[in-house]
Amino acid sequence: MQKQEQNKSAADAATQAARVVVVGSLNMDVVLSLGRVPEAGETVAAQSLSYLPGGKGGNQAVACARHGAQVTLFGSVGDDHHGESLLQGLRVDGVDVQHVSVHDGVPTGTAVIMVEPQGQNRICVVAGANALLTLNQDSLRPVLAKSEYLVLQFETPHDIVHQAMLAAQAVGCKVVLNPSPVRDVPDDWWPLVHTLVVNEHEAAAFAAQPVHNLATARAAALALLARGVKQVVVTLGSQGALAVEVQGDSPEFSEHAARRVEVVDTTAAGDTFLGAMVTRLAQGSTLAQAVPWGIRAASLCIGKAGAQPSIPTRLQVEEIL
Ligand code: RIB
Repeated sequence: MQKQEQNKSAADAATQAARVVVVGSLNMDVVLSLGRVPEAGETVAAQSLSYLPGGKGGNQAVACARHGAQVTLFGSVGDDHHGESLLQGLRVDGVDVQHVSVHDGVPTGTAVIMVEPQGQNRICVVAGANALLTLNQDSLRPVLAKSEYLVLQFETPHDIVHQAMLAAQAVGCKVVLNPSPVRDVPDDWWPLVHTLVVNEHEAAAFAAQPVHNLATARAAALALLARGVKQVVVTLGSQGALAVEVQGDSPEFSEHAARRVEVVDTTAAGDTFLGAMVTRLAQGSTLAQAVPWGIRAASLCIGKAGAQPSIPTRLQVEEIL
């Protein structure tokens, strides 16, 4: 077999083997496009209203699936039209939703998102059924045992996030934590985290120091590594991203430039980055190789409106290489 063919079949095998578990939120995003957000006490007319699939858990699951991972999602929706519509969309993307519970008489999680013309957004989340998420360890553990990565965020109950981390640790599955929105993290959680993915605001909050560029991100990442995390990625929007992993005894940094694109809507850019990056890691890439994939995927995401509708496939990311 030619070397090129060998490389291709090794890559295909890795692509097929990439298994990722996501425990996280599912929201119907109610998106308002505005000329500008209202001041307190003011009313403004919205240019449009859309109902689009979202939620950090759902978005990250879709981003992984569109990059070729086999994704199993643990989540919770209500028995309403929004819940059914979210599940249907996830199935179309090939996400395994058999462990998503449906709660009678409870509304599906909802996020109200105000998007301004420059693409900046403001989000208010009503947890709904996400607050009722529970984990059946008999279902979770076998799935984790055959997966490389577990992806977690902070839109589900805090004790559930911890339970999932412990279950992953017990079977040797690596935990990727995106601690968004920011909540307190007990000290004993950090050593359970393999890869921490934070934006500049989250990095600043958890490291308790200002983060506004690659140099300050470096200092914050070191502080987070010192808590027991094995790898840290800090995303800085138009300033790119910083990644650090421990090689032997010393931290190995890599810095990655952003792609210049026209911004339509930044919603789910972080989720897209994470999903693309984690899938590449699960497919055998190093952190320094996986981060640029996340950046390219996120750059396509912000060029389109909405959360899940704007998440690109691996092929679309390859096309911009
Ligand atoms: O990260 C973006 C997501 O945050 C949106 O889809 C919204 O549902 C909120 O959860």
